[in-house]
Amino acid sequence: MSLQGKKVLVGLTGGIACYKVPYLVRDLMRQGAEVRVMMTKSATKFITPLTLETVSGYPVAVDMFPEREFVGTRHIDLANWPDVVVIAPATANFFGKIASGVTDDLLTTVVIASPVPVMVAPAMNPQMWQHPTTKRNAAYFREIGYEVVGPAEGDMACDHVGIGRMVEPREILAAIERLLGKKKSVPTNQTKAVLTGKRLLITAGPCREPIDPVRYISNRSSGKMGYALAEAAVQLGATVTLVSGPSRLSAPSGVDFVPVETTDQMYQAVSQRFPDTHYLIMAAAPADFAPSQAAAHKIKKQQAEMQLSLSPTVDILKAMGERKKDGQVLIGFALETDDGIANARRKLKAKNLDMIVLNNPLDANSAFDHDTNKVTIIQPEGDPEEWPLDNKSNVAFKLLEKIAGMA
Ligand code: CTP
Repeated sequence: MSLQGKKVLVGLTGGIACYKVPYLVRDLMRQGAEVRVMMTKSATKFITPLTLETVSGYPVAVDMFPEREFVGTRHIDLANWPDVVVIAPATANFFGKIASGVTDDLLTTVVIASPVPVMVAPAMNPQMWQHPTTKRNAAYFREIGYEVVGPAEGDMACDHVGIGRMVEPREILAAIERLLGKKKSVPTNQTKAVLTGKRLLITAGPCREPIDPVRYISNRSSGKMGYALAEAAVQLGATVTLVSGPSRLSAPSGVDFVPVETTDQMYQAVSQRFPDTHYLIMAAAPADFAPSQAAAHKIKKQQAEMQLSLSPTVDILKAMGERKKDGQVLIGFALETDDGIANARRKLKAKNLDMIVLNNPLDANSAFDHDTNKVTIIQPEGDPEEWPLDNKSNVAFKLLEKIAGMA
């Protein structure tokens, strides 16, 4: 019963993901939480208040001024009641209204009137999520301390595939448990906000270099180390942007997520954000070479043999190393199967890095696609530090605590 005695106010705005919210309410109650529900008028088009009244055992608040009922300062009472307000699903309209201070219904008024933490689980079509106003509003939410959980990637009700789905109720539950501090996902000594006020730019995953419209060159990177770093950095108080190549993982909550595909796109995304960054951690595996020219049409297998001409891609880390200013810290990863330390030291110097994290894909349970990693930390001064095999989340926390204070 991780939420025993906790009070959770769940707010629904109008989206198809409303149908998942009774499961969230039930899961919260199973963990011992007391739950009250409020809905916008649009949300009641997707699921009835009666369903949520039945699951939660309490009347659902919809109207600011219900007929034939004296409600007094209902919005203030509701706003002061919970330990956390959770808006799920949260529409683009909700983001827009709160970001500009518009409170024209009960739900938005309660959110603005509430002194407790606010968690928001967006759900919308990928184009709506990617729209500059929504992006700006989501960034603003994070800035004012709202926790934005998701959205996830996958099939949408509108037949699109992309980022925009509401994360599953169990992920929202886990985020609430973390927020209310009953179930720590990390040992207590690792939750000190040692990166508060710092902006981290983290890259993760592989890149894909197109050969033609259906084929590409890529590598085995899963993105796990970079995603673990991004998640840990948020918990340590940092403002985090995660630039990720194609990965099966869903974006950790609380990060500004920038999906890319090619090394060149990753370069553009990193270049643009680098000037405002305190720490750049390049955990991604960009390509070193890309097809010199991607064919516009699918290549047919006409001949027995085929030559593919490759050209070098831009070395992102090296380019940022050349632009690095005082107060900026650059951390690279080196994947080496032979002469690890000597090669890593060479890269550290050539790319003007402050630290390089060496790992070996031939080590058992390490590097590509494993949940664990065995790394050696190399800095310009001092001896290499060999860390024991550990899960990637612990390695991430240990690494971030080591670099805290460097920028
Ligand atoms: N890196 C990068 N841009 C590239 C290639 C690599 O920014 N085009 C970064 C990686 O993210 C990593 C570091 O450089 O942090 C080292 O990557 P690695 O593949 O080990 O080294 P390379 O410099 O590519 O050298 P080599 O492939 O010869 O080992």
